[in-house]
Amino acid sequence: MTELSDVYIVGAGETKFGELWERSLRELAVEAGLRAVENAGVYSRDVQVLYGSNSLAGIINGQENIGALLSDFSGIAENNIPAIRIEASTASGGAAVRQAYLAVKSGEYDLVMVGGVEKMTDVFGTELIDLTSSVLDREWEAFFGATPAALAAISARKYMADFNVEKDALAMMSVNDHANASKNPDAQYKNKITLEQALNSVAVAEPLNMMDCSPVGDGAAAVLVASENYVKKHKLEGVKILSSADAQDYLALHSRKSLYTLDSAKVASRKALEGAKIKIDDVSFAEIHDSYSIYGLMELEDLGFAQKGKAKDLVYEDIKLNGRIPINPSGGLKAKGNPLGATGVGQFVEAYRQLKGKAGERQVKDSKYAMLHNMGGTGSMSVVHIVGGE
Ligand code: COA
Repeated sequence: MTELSDVYIVGAGETKFGELWERSLRELAVEAGLRAVENAGVYSRDVQVLYGSNSLAGIINGQENIGALLSDFSGIAENNIPAIRIEASTASGGAAVRQAYLAVKSGEYDLVMVGGVEKMTDVFGTELIDLTSSVLDREWEAFFGATPAALAAISARKYMADFNVEKDALAMMSVNDHANASKNPDAQYKNKITLEQALNSVAVAEPLNMMDCSPVGDGAAAVLVASENYVKKHKLEGVKILSSADAQDYLALHSRKSLYTLDSAKVASRKALEGAKIKIDDVSFAEIHDSYSIYGLMELEDLGFAQKGKAKDLVYEDIKLNGRIPINPSGGLKAKGNPLGATGVGQFVEAYRQLKGKAGERQVKDSKYAMLHNMGGTGSMSVVHIVGGE
């Protein structure tokens, strides 16, 4: 049997996230891919397989066959390497990096390109909300009018009532994200917001308002994942992927044991920590999937940073960039942005920059281990990676 390889990120790049009206799906993907190749300093001809992460291009842009599209427009089609789309809703990015991790670890490949892309602004308004609702259970949730925001609001109401949590605690997740995003040139929103602004923004689904919601946006991110052999041979300085884990839960929120417990996050976090042989207290910072502010609190608990119902104790100070456990130094989904297929790959771009000490003004001091949590839908899937360590 081939010996298992250590796995490294050797290059990372992304486009700006935002409402990029003038850019197409393929342009965004190629830009991110080229940036990753340039950043790694490798030849694109060395790439042996391409995994394209995307969630909704089939229904938003009328474009399927994303693997072939990315291969073609990034100029590597003549190499005849496999190019495959990985789709796992809003967890597509983490799932695609996990496939790259497994492929390299197994010894099958030495260099894998993962490119995540989403172009959401080609449709807007209620049509887009209906399309994003396709990540839910169409027959039992979306058909009856449930949307991602509505389901997050149901979780929020129950959570706030059961744990006596005020709306301020949810809003503080967004305040933190905007503060960090103000230091990230790639972020969709670079404005800081106050708690009052967060609380007074327009209502979306009670108790959530606009500042509790990740925005609609476009963007792409890419990473190159390499084997130990490749890293040594080319004298690269990679960031190690120490562990990778994923877990599934019921698709429909009403089928879960609890409206505010993310079993997928619990299981994936536990497995990832075990795989990396570290404890939650060893994590230096985390990028978490706060598509809605309430998920930020639920994830802090279910990933293991706080007891159930106690994340409110972390959100005022501890999660800040210079706090005990910095959360979302990139600006998170709320403020860096959430172009679905790019989001999880973008978390790796941030971790790579942070762990190499290249995150500029938002650099987390002395960071060693990063936890990256990418989630599908309302929690139907979680992918957790631990990176760093050397
Ligand atoms: N946070 C901060 N500002 C936001 C924002 C957000 N989430 N969404 C929109 N804005 C800003 C826009 O940039 C725009 O600013 P401008 O006037 O300075 O240009 C303004 O608010 C109006 O934007 P518009 O696009 O008209 O807002 P909208 O009312 O159509 O959409 C939401 C607002 C919250 C409904 C939309 O962002 C949304 O649906 N978010 C959730 C997406 C989602 O569910 N993703 C996960 C899918 S699983």
